[in-house]
Amino acid sequence: MSQTIQAQNGKNIVVTGVSSGIGQETVRCLAKKGYRVFGSVRKSGDGKPLEDELGDRFHPLVFDVCDKDSLKRSAEIVSQIVKDDGISAIINNAGLALFGPIELLEDDAFEHIVKVNLLGTRFVTNAFLPLLRTGNQRQLGSKIINISSLSGIFNTPMNGAYCISKHAMESLGEIYRRELFGEHIDVVSIRSGPIQSEIWRKNIDSTSTYEGTTYENMAKKTHRIMEHAKRSALPPSVIAELTLDIVEGRKKKLSYHVGEGARISRILSSTLMPKRWADKLIHNALNKKS
Ligand SMILES: NC(=O)c1ccc[n+]([C@@H]2O[C@H](COP(=O)([O-])OP(=O)(O)OC[C@H]3O[C@@H](n4cnc5c(N)ncnc54)[C@H](OP(=O)(O)O)[C@@H]3O)[C@@H](O)[C@H]2O)c1
Repeated sequence: MSQTIQAQNGKNIVVTGVSSGIGQETVRCLAKKGYRVFGSVRKSGDGKPLEDELGDRFHPLVFDVCDKDSLKRSAEIVSQIVKDDGISAIINNAGLALFGPIELLEDDAFEHIVKVNLLGTRFVTNAFLPLLRTGNQRQLGSKIINISSLSGIFNTPMNGAYCISKHAMESLGEIYRRELFGEHIDVVSIRSGPIQSEIWRKNIDSTSTYEGTTYENMAKKTHRIMEHAKRSALPPSVIAELTLDIVEGRKKKLSYHVGEGARISRILSSTLMPKRWADKLIHNALNKKS
């Protein structure tokens, strides 16, 4: 019963990082189902394609997830539009990856990944949380959906900054869920394997930096694995539709594991798997001659 009411009334949703990839497809999917979606971009022009396509079902917000002043202004804008209806979901999607061995990553680059993927998720959640508590939503229950990754449960070499940030994002989500339990605000994590998006271009381009270092072979092998993963990546609509199902209460689990690598990531990160076995398997995979 309450889910039906939510589908009718809980029509306002905030999604971060909608200039491309998963975020853009999620906006499309939600808007086509009648939701009014507030989607964040960093450059105002990046919202134009969705505005042209979706009309008044899409409202661009311009902010960097690390800029608390812009977030505050955006939350005020949303508040003025939705008034007492509040919002029914925050979808924390904005994020980025960084390739490279943890030893050699530039400190600034490492910090930037953690800042965007972890601190940014907290800043966004805190900025829009009051709107999840507003009016109808307070009785109906609402959701925070974190677009995490299989890297949030399983650590892989050359992907350290991303793994650390996504593991921390998992903790953040679980803590919010426990702290917000009494307010009927649920927190759900989507842990995906490879999805077609811009993240690959941004990440794979950075692989040449490690030539001539002790990590050269590992970097080359990882690069080949990433190229394979990119070719087998699922379309972003898979995540968009899953997100819609979570928003509308058809999927009720706390976390979802999606795509290639989901099964092996779960096995290798299981507490039943001795860590040294996992270490050895990963080492062999990255060092076998090919
Ligand atoms: N693609 C995959 O294989 C995969 C797998 C698992 C999880 N994920 C997760 O899915 C999410 C979406 O990524 P995607 O694959 O769709 O990649 P994408 O196409 O590169 O989209 C990332 C989005 O995040 C935005 N963003 C980056 N830094 C930001 C910041 N500081 N403030 C605000 N927005 C920022 C980007 O905006 P700009 O255009 O301005 O940079 C872009 O809109 C990420 O959290 C990623 O970790 C992706």
